[in-house]
Amino acid sequence: MLRLACILVLTFLPWASASGQTARTNYLLNCMGCHLMDGSGTRDKVPSLKGEVARFLHVDGGRAFLIQVPGTSQSRLNDAETADVLNYILRAFDPGHLPDSFIPYTEEEVAQHRGTQLVDAMARRAELAAGFQK
Ligand code: HEC
Repeated sequence: MLRLACILVLTFLPWASASGQTARTNYLLNCMGCHLMDGSGTRDKVPSLKGEVARFLHVDGGRAFLIQVPGTSQSRLNDAETADVLNYILRAFDPGHLPDSFIPYTEEEVAQHRGTQLVDAMARRAELAAGFQK
């Protein structure tokens, strides 16, 4: 158990700024159950965030989609915490696709999009993913 704790600390130390720390903790408590610790998800059930999630920022509507998926919009995190978790996920799991001009999510942006429910999240996801550059 102690060894596991050490590994966790060492793995995430680079992101351990004040809000990064909270964001990581919030991810572990609220999102990891489905997305797993490294964001790799579960085949055919939960898509991988790893090397993928920032690709949504390159297509129209993708930025709002990351807020509107039920896992994000319906969590018990408040808007500011949600913005921090999304910024954490993008930086930790998909730095390769993060645009140079990336503007971090804010509490206001989360508040603006959170209430819009997706009729069919998987269908919307497929629609957006079809626009990804190969
Ligand atoms: C009950 C399982 C579950 C939990 C808990 C969960 N998610 Fe998800 N998440 C999913 C599934 C499934 C999808 C695919 C879209 C859909 O069908 O909702 C998804 C998609 C996403 C996406 C869009 C990226 C993509 O590839 O589709 C983001 C961003 C995301 N989740 C963030 C979060 C965050 C942040 C939390 C915690 C606050 C969280 N999720 C908690 C299951 C979950």
